[in-house]
Amino acid sequence: MRSASSVPISIVAELANNMQAIEQINRLRPQAALVMLNGDLPKSLQMVERLRQENPETAVICSSEETSSDVILQSFRSGATEFLRQPLTETEINEVFAKIEQARLRSTEESQQGRVIAVYSSKGGCGTTFVTANLAVALSRLSRSHATIVDLNLQAGDQPTYLGIENTPYTIYDVVRNFDRLDDTLLNSYLTSRGKLLSLLAAPTEVGRDEDVRPEHVTQIITMLRAQPGYVLIDPQHTLSENTIAALDLADDLVLLLTLDIPSIRSAKRALDIFRRLGYEKSRIKVVLNRYTKSPEFEIGQIEKVLEHSIDAVLSNDYKAAISSINMGEPLVQSKTQSRLQAEFTKLASKLADIQVEEDARPVSRTSWFPFARK
Ligand SMILES: Nc1ncnc2c1ncn2[C@@H]1O[C@H](COP(=O)(O)OP(=O)(O)O)[C@@H](O)[C@H]1O
Ligand SMILES: [Mg+2]
Repeated sequence: MRSASSVPISIVAELANNMQAIEQINRLRPQAALVMLNGDLPKSLQMVERLRQENPETAVICSSEETSSDVILQSFRSGATEFLRQPLTETEINEVFAKIEQARLRSTEESQQGRVIAVYSSKGGCGTTFVTANLAVALSRLSRSHATIVDLNLQAGDQPTYLGIENTPYTIYDVVRNFDRLDDTLLNSYLTSRGKLLSLLAAPTEVGRDEDVRPEHVTQIITMLRAQPGYVLIDPQHTLSENTIAALDLADDLVLLLTLDIPSIRSAKRALDIFRRLGYEKSRIKVVLNRYTKSPEFEIGQIEKVLEHSIDAVLSNDYKAAISSINMGEPLVQSKTQSRLQAEFTKLASKLADIQVEEDARPVSRTSWFPFARK
């Protein structure tokens, strides 16, 4: 099989039964699985259906000695990507794997677009800036790609402090000032780098320079940043101003933060109402409970009922760790301080990036593997 294909293949598993196949494919997330349909046909096709549902990125090649059009049709109806007749021939193997590889390359190209994540809370002090900074670091480490933070707190941007950036030579004010001639190179030159994988578009540092920033600028900046691979994280203002809405409109994921107190729960509910009126799909919104400590007064289930939305993640309250990371200007997820928050940020990042992590929070690599499932 390996020698027949001109596309390099590595076989990561050969599996004897359906249960094993499902279990291992869910774990390994290979690029393709070859299913031999030589036993119980309905059961095998059920497995193909389940495999495709649970692992849409894994191509399933069915192969059978019985090659009636009925078997081929049923395979495709169950979700098979390709069908190989037995005995397998070199030409057909070659063709099938080349097609699958081409499809992968196409989808990788499409995914070269960046993903925009806005972290929003309608009340100050819920941790928007802290969470944005830490999520940016967690996402870039996990996906080994670039993350850019856009600080839209135009009157008092805290991101440089939280990230330990002493000096921001350029800010969003420079972007707006040169808007007429803005291109990727110019926009990138206004970002302040923090290490290789993180950069910041800082808020203006001088009073009065925020007023010129208009929603069309915000839209253009985010659109241009998203055209580059990686993540764009937005730290918007708490008021739902035109600029904030322009940013939230473009977010692929909108993380709504709240803390465990009545005013915060109320304002999160109001924000969710406004999002509904703005036509934001529910699936885009991730509600995250920050500064969480177990309390008899508030049960998560009750809060979910009030909000009419699931709590998608919880970040523990660890004031000492949070404040010392801010004071040191080192995001907690990369500092040596031990805190539950580090694993929680990684978990949230892994959900947002759709990258599985092992228990010890190391990403599971998703290289192009071809394991073969045999019935
Ligand atoms: N999970 C947490 N545990 C403890 N303290 C936190 C946590 N998240 C944020 N904080 C603290 O809350 C304060 C406000 O955070 P900040 O990010 O500035 O809020 P916002 O940007 O929403 O106004 C900071 O002092 C920060 O240390
Ligand atoms: Mg803030």
